[in-house]
Amino acid sequence: MPADRDQSGARIKPGTHDTEEPPATRAAASRVDIVVAITGASGAAFGVTLLEQLGRLDHVRTHLVVSPAGWMNVDHELDKSRADIESLADIVHGFRDVGASIASGSFQTAGMIVAPCSMRTLAAVATGLSDNLITRTADVTLKERRRLILAARETPLNLAHLRNMTSVTEMGGIIFPPVPAFYNKPDSIDQMTADLCARMIDLLQIAEPGARPWLGLRASKVINT
Ligand SMILES: Cc1cc2nc3c(=O)[nH]c(=O)nc-3n(C[C@H](O)[C@H](O)[C@H](O)COP(=O)(O)O)c2cc1C
Repeated sequence: MPADRDQSGARIKPGTHDTEEPPATRAAASRVDIVVAITGASGAAFGVTLLEQLGRLDHVRTHLVVSPAGWMNVDHELDKSRADIESLADIVHGFRDVGASIASGSFQTAGMIVAPCSMRTLAAVATGLSDNLITRTADVTLKERRRLILAARETPLNLAHLRNMTSVTEMGGIIFPPVPAFYNKPDSIDQMTADLCARMIDLLQIAEPGARPWLGLRASKVINT
């Protein structure tokens, strides 16, 4: 078996624990696993920025799954190679690998973020259609009552989109349309993206809040004048 693969065939970053390995040390026991999935909606930068931000949290181990349409958008929207993006994750799983560790509820994770989340993947999650590793892991995340955040991106929305969002919300998932906030006066698209990703990570409650807090109108005037 190649040195950069674990027993399931998932690609692992050098120095990362094998996915099958149970937490043996205190450090491993306090480690949390987070799944990041990138699907074929516009906004591949959200998935990449999430990986960058999660990568700064020492106790977090990231699992990445990208759909074929997700890779199309990565290639179209970003000046980054697939290898660049995969290198940001600790473990990279194949889209069709429904036998991967994260496909089972017995593999403990602290949650999953799908960003961006296409309407196709949203529909599959809303109807429990575990037809690939992203939708299977989302299904598992819901059944285990763990945090599932879908950065659902489409506009405008039809009734099917809205109904699917309602279904996922009823099942305990969080619909997080990546709608920018202007009140913090972001100075660039990168800043807007970073602010939104920090908000998504804060919803996982795995670290101190990372998003820039709103301090109230009066405070913001003092800061901005
Ligand atoms: C350039 C491009 C942009 C797209 N943007 C969106 C989008 O913003 N939202 C969406 O739901 N689908 C979008 N799509 C369509 C999805 O990629 C398509 O429905 C695909 O089947 C989704 O598959 P997936 O959910 O497995 O990634 C886009 C496709 C392309 C090629």
